[in-house]
Amino acid sequence: MKIAIDGPVGAGKSTIADAVANALNILHLDTGAMYRAVGLSCLKAGIDYEDEAAVTALCEKLEMDVRHEADGQHTLVNGEDLTGGLRTEAVSAAASRVATYAGVRRAMVAAQQALAAKTDMLLDGRDIGTRVLPDADVKIYLTAAAGERARRRWLEYQKKGQDVPFEEVLRDLEARDRQDMNREVDPLRQAEDAVVVDTTELDFDGSVAAVLAVIREATGRG
Ligand code: DC
Repeated sequence: MKIAIDGPVGAGKSTIADAVANALNILHLDTGAMYRAVGLSCLKAGIDYEDEAAVTALCEKLEMDVRHEADGQHTLVNGEDLTGGLRTEAVSAAASRVATYAGVRRAMVAAQQALAAKTDMLLDGRDIGTRVLPDADVKIYLTAAAGERARRRWLEYQKKGQDVPFEEVLRDLEARDRQDMNREVDPLRQAEDAVVVDTTELDFDGSVAAVLAVIREATGRG
């Protein structure tokens, strides 16, 4: 069974996908973590992530490895576990940029397809239903209104003690949406055969239940 979940930043894809995959007892591949790992590798190597040629050259040399352990997904580059450093604003900005480069996408898509070929899997990202798994058994486009996505992100910052103005969070989120939707290679868009799940009015449990209901309808599982 292959499940594709795509959608814009802050729709709750990763956490919802995790809970759904757990309920189905299948692996979840967070493909955004792989683009984040490329972004972080650039920052660590002192490479300007605006420099497509340099980033592509670095990406060709990277050995990326994803392991699923009891505490979740671990993303390794050249044997080093980068998982703990992937969720910062600096890495988000770098990841969004490097994900626009054709060479980077080619390498990541191939790695994701190889991982998904081995076992039942739920993948979440931006181009899973349109590019990585065009023949997925179920495709879900998970979204929510921009203001609500920004509000959730802002609450996460508050919880971590980071006092970022709401307007800044909303502006960054909309800028990243634009970058993801308007890039030339495999932009974020809803696959024609995807089912839309809008979580604007749903809490976490409601969102998980809505996604599971779509999967049950399509496959009889869940
Ligand atoms: O889902 P995320 O925020 O962790 O993803 C990080 C960046 O990677 C985001 O800017 C979009 C990009 N991405 C992508 O282009 N294709 C994917 N399949 C997953 C993520």
